Formats: sequence, C-alpha cells, structure tokens
Amino acid sequence: MKVLSLPGDPGIGPGLADRLGLEHVPVFAKRFPDGEMYLRLTRGVERERVLVVQSMYPAQNDRLLELLLTLELLNRYESEPVLLVTYLAYARQDKEFLEYEAISLRSVLRAVTAQGVRVLVTVDAHNPQAVEEFLSGVSYVNVFPGEVFAEAISREYGGREMTVIAPDRGAGARALSLAEHLGCGYVVVQKFRDRTTGQVRHSLDSLDDVRGLAVIVDDIISTGGTIAGIASHLSGRGVETVVAASHALLVGDALERLVKSGVRKVYSLPTVPQRFSGVVYLDLVPYLAGELEKRGIA
Ligand code: R5P
Repeated sequence: MKVLSLPGDPGIGPGLADRLGLEHVPVFAKRFPDGEMYLRLTRGVERERVLVVQSMYPAQNDRLLELLLTLELLNRYESEPVLLVTYLAYARQDKEFLEYEAISLRSVLRAVTAQGVRVLVTVDAHNPQAVEEFLSGVSYVNVFPGEVFAEAISREYGGREMTVIAPDRGAGARALSLAEHLGCGYVVVQKFRDRTTGQVRHSLDSLDDVRGLAVIVDDIISTGGTIAGIASHLSGRGVETVVAASHALLVGDALERLVKSGVRKVYSLPTVPQRFSGVVYLDLVPYLAGELEKRGIA
C-alpha cells in the first residue's frame, strides 16, 4: 500500500505513511489560466492499494473535484483506492428537510464512490448513519477519537467535576464516547432549527444541574453560534466551559464569538488544513494509524 496526499490533505498523509512504514506519494496539482484544474501523481501506483488522503475543506468544490480526478486515474491504472476523508463536506444536508431540496451528501457520495472505491474512512462525519445509508458495496468506517480529546482534557482539568454536553441529539453518540473516556456524565441539549431561516434555538433547562467544568462536544464549529449560545448560558451560571470539536472551520469571527461567550479553550483535530492560534490541535496520526491497522485497512 502507498499513501497518496491530495492538495487538501491537512498533513495527515506523510505522518501516516511514516508511522505505518508506507511510501508517501504527493500529488502535483495546478490551475490553468481559465481556472481549470490539472493533476498528476509524482510516482506510479499501478495495481496497488492506495490510501488517498483528502480533506474537503476549505473550497469544498475544488477538493471534491481533486478527488474525482484522482479516482479516475487510479481506476485507469487498476489501483485500489481506499479513501480517508478527514473532513467530509456537504454532510449536513443529509436529507430533504424542505420539499425539493437537493440531498447534497448523497450526490457527493455517489460521485466519489462511482469510481471503484471499496473502502471509505471518515473522521467524525456529521451523521455516519446517513453516510452508511447512501453507500452501496463500500465498506465504511467512521472514527471519532474520543480518547484523544479525553486525554488532553484530563491532562489539563483532571480531578475536576465535569459534564460533557452535546448541543443536539446528533452529537449524543460523541458525548457518550467522550464522557466514557473522561469518566463523567453527559447531557444532550434539545435543539430546534427553523428550516427556512436557519435560526437555531436551544432548550437549556437540561443544564440546570451542570457544575464545575462543561465540555461541549460537537463535530463542526462553523460560525460558532451553536456553542456560543450554550457557553454563555453556562458562564452566566458560573460554569467554566471548554470545547471539543473535530472540525474547526471557524468562519469569520467565530473564534472571537466563542471567547466572548466564555469558552476557555477549544480542542480540535487537524482535519482541515487551516490553523488558528488559540485552538489546541491534537495529534491525530497515532490514533488513525492504530484504527487503520486494527481494522485491517493498512
Ligand atoms: C450541526 O448540526 C452541526 O453538528 C454543528 O452543530 C453546526 O454545524 C455548528 O454550526 P455553527 O458553529 O455555525 O453553529
């Protein structure tokens, strides 16, 4: 097996290759003057298993096209692609919430898996059940590194009373996993979203008994609104808050918004290439290498 890093690889590919003792193959990509994309492998991978590493953010559409171009060429050279997508874009539009909406997740998965992909690995996909549902003939693994977050949080706050908080039902499984690793309880907050305006409202009564340290866990921080709403409610009650979120997109002034709401620390994973000072990025490579080996993928 060889490890192929596409342009969106957030630095995971070289680390994984090193750890797993595999050859790392970078991809050469450029733009033509009209904006079209060109892509070529820097070494051959004929008839080999290839672990393709890509994050689909930022510039979701470009990252998707890079994947499609790569899969076409791997197919032509009879290679066997195993996809590791560290951030799966378009994952939140996983159903028709309003009539006549496009189901973006399904389109993306159909396009990507139409070209001979037999194994897909994602890091903390928004809704792994929905991904699974839309795949056929593809073996699918989603990993949520609860132990990686727990280790970092325990190192800093071990011994304190803490509660893990899921900002919605979708984050319930993440909260359970993290709470188990931290050895504490968890609460799932009810979220209501107006599907037309996109406005979100939380019912926060369930947080009345939270004391000490609150660890809000989520997959994505985009505008920061979801977490800030809960954190400011908690800080008003004297509860300190930290955040464990896999994908720190942090659009616009999201980070400032979190700080203003009383969030003390944001733990995240290097699943997208951008880095923000003020965010603690945890090492994902040892965990991922272990998972790939354990499941017989690498
Ligand atoms: C939504 O269900 C997701 O799990 C996240 O909670 C959401 O994407 C966060 O977005 P924002 O940071 O804009 O509130």
